[in-house]
Amino acid sequence: RKKVTIGTLRAMHKRGEPITMITAHDFPSAHVADAAGMDMVLVGDSLAMVALGMEDTSEVLLEEMLLHCRSVARATRAAFTVGDLPMGSYEIAPEQALETAIRFVKEGRMQGVKLEGGKEMAPTIAKITQAGIPVLGHVGLTPQRQNALGGFRVQGKTSDGAMKVLEDALAIQEAGCFAMVLEAVPAEVASIITEKLSVPTIGIGAGNGCSGQVLVQVDMTGNFPPGRFLPKFVKKYGDVWSESLRAIETYRDEVKSRQYPAPEHTYPIPKDQLEAFAE
Ligand code: KIV
Ligand code: NA
Repeated sequence: RKKVTIGTLRAMHKRGEPITMITAHDFPSAHVADAAGMDMVLVGDSLAMVALGMEDTSEVLLEEMLLHCRSVARATRAAFTVGDLPMGSYEIAPEQALETAIRFVKEGRMQGVKLEGGKEMAPTIAKITQAGIPVLGHVGLTPQRQNALGGFRVQGKTSDGAMKVLEDALAIQEAGCFAMVLEAVPAEVASIITEKLSVPTIGIGAGNGCSGQVLVQVDMTGNFPPGRFLPKFVKKYGDVWSESLRAIETYRDEVKSRQYPAPEHTYPIPKDQLEAFAE
């Protein structure tokens, strides 16, 4: 498979081919995403919850994001890689954001960065893109601002709310982002916004009218214990948790019953050597 570049993504968008994106947080999860033909792989700050067991994304540190980005980059051959700027690493000033974005490229080995926010982040997006680092925007529901938004709520459910999302999208497009995530907005609103933009929208909980889709890998592969809350928009395509559980339980049983390891799992020693040793 050929390496996906900004040019590849632009061409896909132009011919109306949906862009596929999934999160990865380490070497194996990036490896399988790349092997499955994803166009883009995102090291989302959702890794705070799905890989590090934190309560929300505000807890994850820049250094932790960079460590995970490096491991993802080592496994990603073809997909375009994007690293999520964590809360606190980009909001203070465009200069701070650029410094962080440079670390994502140099240390995290990412090809692009993602950051949350609309109009107010336009100067920051311009600063980073002008330095030659592609920026993926993120508007609609922006989870890093959950405390200000009053929780994880659908955005753009009123005409004023929808207008705000559209204005944010237009502003960050103008600032130079190559695409943007549209999270948790009504499908019709996402479709209209997508039509009004010249850059692709990557939807999550934003319906089928976006230019592409993104999902969190552990959610869509079902790699979590039963009973965990899943947002409405997640489709569970697999049951990785059950398969892992089955394998590890079988291993446990076979060790307890001495069925494992069997002769084929052991190393031989020549008979004369064994006799000399055993004497
Ligand atoms: O952190 C993340 O995984 C994300 C995607 C869901 C867009 O931001
Ligand atoms: Na994120």
